[in-house]
Amino acid sequence: MIAIGSDHAAAALRHIVMEYLDEKKIPYIDCGTDESPSDYPVIAKEVCGKIQSGEAEMGILVCGTGIGMSLTANKMKGIRAAVCSETYSAKYTRLHNDANVLCMGERVVGTGLAKEILDVFLTTQFEGGRHARRVNMIMELEK
Ligand code: RB5
Repeated sequence: MIAIGSDHAAAALRHIVMEYLDEKKIPYIDCGTDESPSDYPVIAKEVCGKIQSGEAEMGILVCGTGIGMSLTANKMKGIRAAVCSETYSAKYTRLHNDANVLCMGERVVGTGLAKEILDVFLTTQFEGGRHARRVNMIMELEK
């Protein structure tokens, strides 16, 4: 299960992502919002809360740049959020960082690229091994 959310600056991209997930038959929880204006920290907290509770394994957060969402998400325990604007970062943040939240900016990436980034993020598995030790070192900082 994937939790998804946007602020007003990326509601259109959120809907495109949801259509894409529908096409791929990937289940998701829509945490909104279609309200405008809206505050990205509220939505990031909601989406990451679904991961913390175990209702979702991964999250997708979109805002104007993806940055506000990622800054908020990374304050939350157990969350490793990465802003990706191309596929290379999407691949390696899964392989090496075990990122569990993908952030993108509607004002940064086009629709086609956003779908490719999403596809790579969702289909790439964490490599583990030496990377697991490093990810554990990040998570130690939460204590
Ligand atoms: C909203 O104008 C914008 O600040 C927000 O979507 C995001 O880009 C923040 O990081």
